[in-house]
Amino acid sequence: MTKVLITGACGFIGSHLVEYFSKKKINVIAYDKYNSKGDHGWLENNKNIGNTKIILGDINDFTLTNKLVKETDYIIHLAALISIPYSYFSPGSYIKTNIEGTYNILESARLNRKRVIITSTSEVYGTGLKFPMNEKHPIFAQSPYAASKIAADNLALSYYNSFNLPVKIIRPFNAFGPRQSNRAIIPSVITQLLSKKKYIKVGNTHPRRDWTYVTDLCSAYYSFYKSNRGYGKVFNVGTGKHYSITNMIDISQNICKTRKKIIKENKRKRPIKSEINKLQCDTKLFKKEIGWSQKVNFKRGLILTVDWLKKNSDSKKSSIYQI
Ligand SMILES: NC(=O)c1ccc[n+]([C@@H]2O[C@H](COP(=O)([O-])OP(=O)(O)OC[C@H]3O[C@@H](n4cnc5c(N)ncnc54)[C@H](O)[C@@H]3O)[C@@H](O)[C@H]2O)c1
Repeated sequence: MTKVLITGACGFIGSHLVEYFSKKKINVIAYDKYNSKGDHGWLENNKNIGNTKIILGDINDFTLTNKLVKETDYIIHLAALISIPYSYFSPGSYIKTNIEGTYNILESARLNRKRVIITSTSEVYGTGLKFPMNEKHPIFAQSPYAASKIAADNLALSYYNSFNLPVKIIRPFNAFGPRQSNRAIIPSVITQLLSKKKYIKVGNTHPRRDWTYVTDLCSAYYSFYKSNRGYGKVFNVGTGKHYSITNMIDISQNICKTRKKIIKENKRKRPIKSEINKLQCDTKLFKKEIGWSQKVNFKRGLILTVDWLKKNSDSKKSSIYQI
């Protein structure tokens, strides 16, 4: 039976992916970062993950990573540091985890001849120049996070070209849904809307994003995993639709049946040259070569996210940052 190693498995997207693959009766090893509490993040006491084995360690540890890769048939790599504001504060840690960590995955896969999916991000394109944005759109690093993901993607492509490693790259545009960190703009806004405060605080409201609901993204990973095509290539995954932060707040206010004052705070804004004004995915290549389509539209996804946050949010945790 095929065993799949999912890295970053206790995080937002990773935990949904472990559930999705478990439902498909795929044998999963979930790999995430050790913490002193030894807790399993979103996989802790999770009843929807069958007999998934959870391993806590660090993708920066080559010996452990290589051992786990050796034990599996396929690696889906999501582990990364993802906060853009934190990448301004500690860029070196992004080089370690996002570049060297990906190197450890690729090198282990090369040594053990395993297949790999690497997770990129639409942030690598920088502000969109031509819409919708296809895989040929220029790459432009506007944050240390984006730079680290560009390096990791290129390392992966070099492993395909140099060693014929069966590696392919999924490049999701923004994801959202239950379990996303309150550092991200959608949970941050909804948590504030659900709180008792009469206002919400945000950064820039003009940026436009192409948001995919998390279970749709999981089905894209599954189609990518099942397909024998696409090695040595990058595939964008998104919906092709785009909404400004203002649009998103407006829809969320309607869902929460509230109308709060919007306060823009400078400390929540990215530095001007680092802000990405618009991202809109060209969905053609992934649809044509792999086959996938969006099921949960943006409003429905926001309704599901509001429902989840009503049961699970801690309004004190509403973050000052925007991703
Ligand atoms: N959330 C989005 O909108 C989005 C969009 C595009 C791409 N991505 C990519 O998707 C992936 C998952 O993102 P997410 O939103 O679920 O973030 P997340 O922070 O919820 O998950 C990342 C996981 O990686 C783990 N991790 C970090 N460093 C590690 C290490 N050294 N060793 C082992 N595990 C480590 C974290 O503990 C965490 O559980 C990332 O690669 C990210 O760049 C996310």
